[in-house]
Amino acid sequence: MTRAAVPPRIIRTLKDLRRQIAKYRTAGETVALVPTMGALHEGHLTLVRTARRKAQRVVVSIFVNPTQFAPNEDLARYPRDEAGDVAKLAAVGADIVWAPVPEEMYRPGFATRIEVNGAAEGLEGAFRPHHFGGVATVCCKLFSQVTPDVAVFGEKDYQQLCVIRQMVRDLDLPLAIHGVPTVREKDGLALSSRNRYLTPEERAAAPALAAAIRKVAETVAGGGKQATAIKSAVKSLEAVGFGPIDYVAVADAETLGPWTAASGRPGRVLAAARLGSTRLIDNVPVPKAKA
Ligand code: PAJ
Repeated sequence: MTRAAVPPRIIRTLKDLRRQIAKYRTAGETVALVPTMGALHEGHLTLVRTARRKAQRVVVSIFVNPTQFAPNEDLARYPRDEAGDVAKLAAVGADIVWAPVPEEMYRPGFATRIEVNGAAEGLEGAFRPHHFGGVATVCCKLFSQVTPDVAVFGEKDYQQLCVIRQMVRDLDLPLAIHGVPTVREKDGLALSSRNRYLTPEERAAAPALAAAIRKVAETVAGGGKQATAIKSAVKSLEAVGFGPIDYVAVADAETLGPWTAASGRPGRVLAAARLGSTRLIDNVPVPKAKA
């Protein structure tokens, strides 16, 4: 079965969205949601292909969510290319593009915000204090608008995935959350809409971030000291022009609290650092210790 050549239907009002979802439900079809902010790349498209395997219908939301950007962040210059996005989605076979205007998402008088603690504390939460409240609120709205059976998120934004899982668990939201491994360039750089801001020199230095956290992951998996591994990662990043380095951290892969090899639990290495005017984030799993 292939629907690959059929362009997705673009829906801009909640009324039309609900009507279309009701049709799917009447036909007994399952629905998957892939939330995005557009400027789609191969990472996003991998989520859409995964979603197609998880449900009969796929909704991709494209909404640059103002409430997850701080005033000093890059909302105004965030890349937008709806026509290009729709063409890419036609090729991978999404059914609906849910692309509301900001006023449809946040109607006059909107005054509710979901605050997630736990997984949202520390790491990105420490450097972008309002970010996860905005993400959780918009995702909760998207879940209630689309009513998906499953929503698909990338591990690229690993803490975001943990925050969404925490919210879904805490609020008993009736959907499954599926995480997809990070899609990378050949040289290891994680695909990101923000990579286009890198100068050629910065682009050449950027893969050092993935290499540095991979090295930390290998060191701590083999019983090496976290503090020493992190220090040498920071040094190697500074040597190729990264800075400031917001964090390089080893965390429990589920709670994002502290992790030790002795815990026997899965671990994760996460980092965020600026390269010129672009802030890059990345993370990798701690490999399982050999028995
Ligand atoms: P955005 O940055 O557009 O990312 C949308 C989804 O694509 C997220 O789940 C993200 O983790 C995933 N993604 C991005 N780059 C990826 C890569 N290289 N490999 C795999 N997955 C990747 O994340 C957001 O938008 C927003 O915060 C959103 C959840 C839409 C809420 O506004």
